[in-house]
Amino acid sequence: MSLPKVAANSPQEVSLVAGEKYAYCTCGLSEKQPFCDGKHKGTEFKPLVFTAEETKSAWFCRCKQTCNAPNCDGSHNKLSQPTPSAAAIE
Ligand code: FES
Repeated sequence: MSLPKVAANSPQEVSLVAGEKYAYCTCGLSEKQPFCDGKHKGTEFKPLVFTAEETKSAWFCRCKQTCNAPNCDGSHNKLSQPTPSAAAIE
C-alpha cells in the first residue's frame, strides 16, 4: 500500500455541524485540507466519509499519520523537520 502525502505538519481546526456529512482526505493530495476534493481518484485511497454527531470544533490531522482519523493524535510531532531549501543553504 502506498503512503499518503503529508499535506502539512500540523492539524487544522474545523467546525462541524451536527447531522452534516463530511469527507476527510486520507491521501493528502486534496487542496482543500483536511477535506477531500476528489484528488484521490486513480489512487488506492478513499476519503473517510462521516456524519457529525454534534456541533463542535475539532482538530483534524493533515500529516495523515494519525491512528485516530480524522482527528490529530499528535503523530505530526514525530515527523522530521522539512529539509531546508537549496536557497537557504547557499
Ligand atoms: S496533524 Fe497528523 S497527527 Fe497531528
